[in-house]
Amino acid sequence: MKYNMTTAQGAKKPFSEVIKANIGDAHAMGQRPITFLRQVLALCTYPELLNDNKFPEDAKNRARRILQSCGGGSIAARGVLAQYPLYSAALADLGAVQINYYLSEERCWSLDVSELRRALNEARQDCCPRALCIINPGNPTDGCEFHSFKKVLFEMGPKYSDTVELASFHSTSKCYMGECGFRGGYMEVINLDPEVKVQLTKLVSVRLCPPVPGQALLDLVVNPPEPGEPSYATFIKERTATLSDLAHKAELTEQILNTVPGISCNPVQGAMYSFPRINIPERAVKEAKEKGQAPDMFYCMKLLEETGICLVPGSGFGQREGTYHFRMTILPPTDKLKILLAKVKEFHQKFTEQYS
Ligand SMILES: Cc1ncc(COP(=O)(O)O)c(C=O)c1O
Repeated sequence: MKYNMTTAQGAKKPFSEVIKANIGDAHAMGQRPITFLRQVLALCTYPELLNDNKFPEDAKNRARRILQSCGGGSIAARGVLAQYPLYSAALADLGAVQINYYLSEERCWSLDVSELRRALNEARQDCCPRALCIINPGNPTDGCEFHSFKKVLFEMGPKYSDTVELASFHSTSKCYMGECGFRGGYMEVINLDPEVKVQLTKLVSVRLCPPVPGQALLDLVVNPPEPGEPSYATFIKERTATLSDLAHKAELTEQILNTVPGISCNPVQGAMYSFPRINIPERAVKEAKEKGQAPDMFYCMKLLEETGICLVPGSGFGQREGTYHFRMTILPPTDKLKILLAKVKEFHQKFTEQYS
């Protein structure tokens, strides 16, 4: 923040510079960064530098050790600190109640307004619903019929656009960036009650700030290289390749899963997840219940034990009574994804035979 060097009356203040001694921000005040720390961090974030002979061997070894313990060998992996499910856990922490509504599987996991009304009306008997949470593209279902809520709100006119509180979130964790580990993101709030805004500011201030590399990364995501700049061509090439690889894997996943009798998979449209429906034979449902497990948990545990493939049972997210699903990411490299899908297919066929 810039300090005004003149008084309100326009007079010069009796000093020529502001000497900041208020905040414990050592580097901002000129303290030199420790070379070893910066070297290892630079190597971790850009491992190509491991081939650069300007870096000492001990820094390289340290970076290798850190990278080896990161998922996928990337410091951008969120690693062991991630906690799921985020939203229900946050609500539980706040003592709030979650109101569930179902998406329409028949219509590619789209939102059916009458179902939303049903959930709302039922919930009103017990609580006072306050907020609607939209995840788009969906997780776990991957449905992606993108509408900007801000745009719709403004199209609805002042009665709504001046009153409805809207908070939008975006982060660097997904899409072509996939930079989960940097914890960078932003939030835009519209029409927030001024008193709530004061509390929000307080909450944000208490946390000081997210890590600065994450903030820098977000700055790059919203201001990518421009045409004519030296990095533009490589940036576009890499972004396009990543997006088309994801699109290819999405198609592959849908196609192969739909060849399996007893599995049906909606198109994987916009996220990195598929949420196929699986038929679980009655005998397997019974055995699962005897074990005190949800049937799709039983299925996923068996799959893990027999094939080493780790999926998330649909029951962990909520699904219509009597239906079963699993959530599978499309992120493994194409070769591995093909092997994975072939193994799921083989397992499902064997499982169905065994329990029919
Ligand atoms: C719906 C949803 N919200 C939030 C997150 C967490 O994202 P971030 O890494 O930006 O905190 C994830 C995924 O990992 C997600 O799928």
